[in-house]
Amino acid sequence: MPNLFSPIEVAGVRLSHRVVMAPLTRSRSQQPGDVPGPLMREYYAQRASPGGLIISEATTISPSARGWFGAPGLYSDAQVEGWKAITAAVHAKGGYIFSQLWHTGRSSHIDVTGGPVPVSASVNPSYWNDPARLTSTPSGWVQPSPHRALEIPEIAAIVDDYRRAAERAKAAGFDGVELHGANGYLMDQFLQDGSNHRTDAYGGSIENRARFMIEVVDALVSVWGPDRVGVRIGPDGRWNDMSDSEPNALFSYVAEQLNRFDLAYLHIVEPRVEGNVVVTEGQAPIAAEQLRKIFKGRIISAGGFEPETAEAVVAKGDADLVAFGRHFISNPDLPARIKGGRPLTAYDRNTFYTFDAKGYVDYPAYEDAEAVA
Ligand code: FNR
Repeated sequence: MPNLFSPIEVAGVRLSHRVVMAPLTRSRSQQPGDVPGPLMREYYAQRASPGGLIISEATTISPSARGWFGAPGLYSDAQVEGWKAITAAVHAKGGYIFSQLWHTGRSSHIDVTGGPVPVSASVNPSYWNDPARLTSTPSGWVQPSPHRALEIPEIAAIVDDYRRAAERAKAAGFDGVELHGANGYLMDQFLQDGSNHRTDAYGGSIENRARFMIEVVDALVSVWGPDRVGVRIGPDGRWNDMSDSEPNALFSYVAEQLNRFDLAYLHIVEPRVEGNVVVTEGQAPIAAEQLRKIFKGRIISAGGFEPETAEAVVAKGDADLVAFGRHFISNPDLPARIKGGRPLTAYDRNTFYTFDAKGYVDYPAYEDAEAVA
């Protein structure tokens, strides 16, 4: 029976454990230009482990794809150079790192895009009119800007942006790319019918709503080959005002369609988590269990895992690997801590998205913490 520390082959490399670092937006890129700098290098190097897999924080594929102030990009030469130093630092510790490719869609503000109006599958004014919904801009947290629906030729142009970002990820020394299809960003806005009311080839039926994602996966595979491409989805995820009338049918279809590529993995966010908050405390993972029956490749499960529940999902066979988000923020040596049965350091939510070293690179590894105590 596999456990969290049984080796496993993913993306043509042998991982020595199954404790994956989940993609985590931390808003620490250098400004202007959304360039990954030495602070980010230190953070990722701290979290790299021999034979361990890191998924980078969501990284924007073009200037107009931006929606979160401080998030890094992969559309300029300076960004590629910045990422090169990070991938080299991860590799120097024997680890692997995928780049998570991101278009925020309607979850954005013109002060972050630099002018262009945010885009989505369809126009949903309730999204930007909700005073409780805030997005990160240079002047703080504000309501998102009104968005508009993409025209069909623009969809093709965004597929090209993904392709170019995938090429830059290669130049930057990543081991592969992950398509961010979860948490209510552009891919998800097309998938789910709460946000997609189109009547053309990209809306209506499940097949049509999944078309954009499949075209993007095709583009990523054309650059990397299938075994270096992963896809992250959030079945039944509600974060960012997502909803779908038939989530089981939708995400089963997506998992089935992805089978034809023979991808590195399918990364599934459990619906018990909305964004970064566990909403149904104590609920067992259900999405991985269902999609395991459909998807033929490796499955990474994420969302609300503790070491014990992660061990259980791998032992049960519903997932091959488990991604940890918040615990990896405050435990840079998380795989070693779990292996050694050591206590975990609590994370501080107040510094998730702040812009400096505090709450970012100052969480000590276990041995270092012991030495100080
Ligand atoms: C996230 N999450 C996230 N997901 C994603 O696909 N791309 C991203 O960039 C981010 N950014 C992000 C930032 C922060 C600070 C948090 C806490 C979360 C979601 C994350 O990957 C994960 O799915 C959730 O945190 C749930 O897992 P945990 O934290 O319960 O292990």
